Amino acid sequence: MAIGKEQAYYKAARRAVTALNSDASLKQVLHTIVRNIARAMEAGVSLVLLDSSRKKLAHSSSWGLPQFYLRKGVLDADKSLSEVLTGQPAVIGDVGRDSRVQYPEMAAKAGIVSMLGIPIMSSGLAAGSIRVYTREPREFTNQDISFVTTMANLAAVALGSSLLREEKEEAEPGRSQTPVEGAALRKARSVTFAHPSEEEFARILDFYDVEWIYEPRSFPLRWEADRITEMFTPDFYLPGLDLYIELTTLKQSSVTKKNRKLRHLRQLYPEVKIMLLHKNEYDRLLARYGCGPLAHTRARGIRRVLYSPAEIEERVRALAGRISKDYAGRRPILVGVQRGFICFMADLIRYITIPLDVDFITMSYYSASDHSMFKFTKDMELNIAGRHVIVVEGIVDTGMTLNSILNHLRPRRAASLAVCTLLDKRVRRIADVPLEYVGFEVEDEFVVGYGLDYEEEYRNLPFVGVLELEKPESEDRAGSHKK
Ligand code: IMP
Ligand code: MG
Repeated sequence: MAIGKEQAYYKAARRAVTALNSDASLKQVLHTIVRNIARAMEAGVSLVLLDSSRKKLAHSSSWGLPQFYLRKGVLDADKSLSEVLTGQPAVIGDVGRDSRVQYPEMAAKAGIVSMLGIPIMSSGLAAGSIRVYTREPREFTNQDISFVTTMANLAAVALGSSLLREEKEEAEPGRSQTPVEGAALRKARSVTFAHPSEEEFARILDFYDVEWIYEPRSFPLRWEADRITEMFTPDFYLPGLDLYIELTTLKQSSVTKKNRKLRHLRQLYPEVKIMLLHKNEYDRLLARYGCGPLAHTRARGIRRVLYSPAEIEERVRALAGRISKDYAGRRPILVGVQRGFICFMADLIRYITIPLDVDFITMSYYSASDHSMFKFTKDMELNIAGRHVIVVEGIVDTGMTLNSILNHLRPRRAASLAVCTLLDKRVRRIADVPLEYVGFEVEDEFVVGYGLDYEEEYRNLPFVGVLELEKPESEDRAGSHKK
């Protein structure tokens, strides 16, 4: 038996080296490594690479594991990959009884009993992890551990050589300079985007630190006997939000077919959260970052008043009343975000009847021209450890700004973290952040005033109004609904 195993391991390593020494893409090499471990060990295998923060998932492949297990368990790199944090193998004999296992009930449903995790070490740092899952209790031997470690080293070499190749390409004159590590990882996670808009969208997600995986899963929609006759592969999966996103850059009129597929998918897979981002919604998202066809849309003026000063006052007083009650005896810190909160927070604190502190936080926006990295242009000054924090926003739209800010604050160990926003544009949400205090829920229209701007105009209006924007040509042609 031992000899058979040794031969199987040798063969697996040989295949991985052959792939490594070919023109196969990094993604393909990693998948070859995964498949061959699975075959040699008769087990399910997953491989994840982390980005440079070593918290976020940059790429994953797997073999022989059920999809529902991958979605929940393996992707949550941040919390569950103990071997990555320690740089040591993690051997778990009985998944059901080990407190290190994050989703024991999922593991049970997938029939997983034992698990081996080996870090992928690159220049002394853990760059990711390979995990082996078995459906029967297995005692992993030193030989097993050294085999998976060898395969993990090959994965590290694949990563390194892809990095070198990238460096050579970058060195050519006229090429833009990007951090080498980032470029190599980008290659691993997304060899081919089907459309440039998908790549731009991925960059926006990167900027807001929203984890994503490109086309990770195909959903069978129709069968004939045992044969699948129709499939649907959403463009993105956002593991942190457990959400699939399908971008559609087609004209509105031809989206009908896609909508039908999506309805079908929701019927067959009711547990799957999926959203369709239409072309005009997507263009508006891009326009916020100064790119795309709607980037220079001009404002025609206020179309109508949505909330009068009196209505706003009544609502803000009510919110202040609730906050005063909920935080009695706790002296909360109110943290204003960006600039849209200015009028709202100024009024809110005057109606709050308990002692409080105020602070502010500002982050940079994604810039399409330089693919800038996410940064805080002004961080908080107060220490929030052990304090009750209320983040105050003017409006929550996609939720990505707030999501980044909450992720930024979470490690600071506040006693509690809540959000208070004057306006909630719920229909446009991508990152589903919890909102404890909401003034008004607004429709999908661009609103200004009472602190909110359009290109730095209209902030000082005493009411909230709907802005009339010049109608973009593309929408007219597509015969899109108007409001
Ligand atoms: P999110 O990251 O998509 O939730 O965007 C939130 C930010 O976008 C807010 O802080 C506003 O600056 C801006 N924003 C989104 N929708 C509107 C709007 O209708 N009027 C004014 N600003 C908006
Ligand atoms: Mg703004």
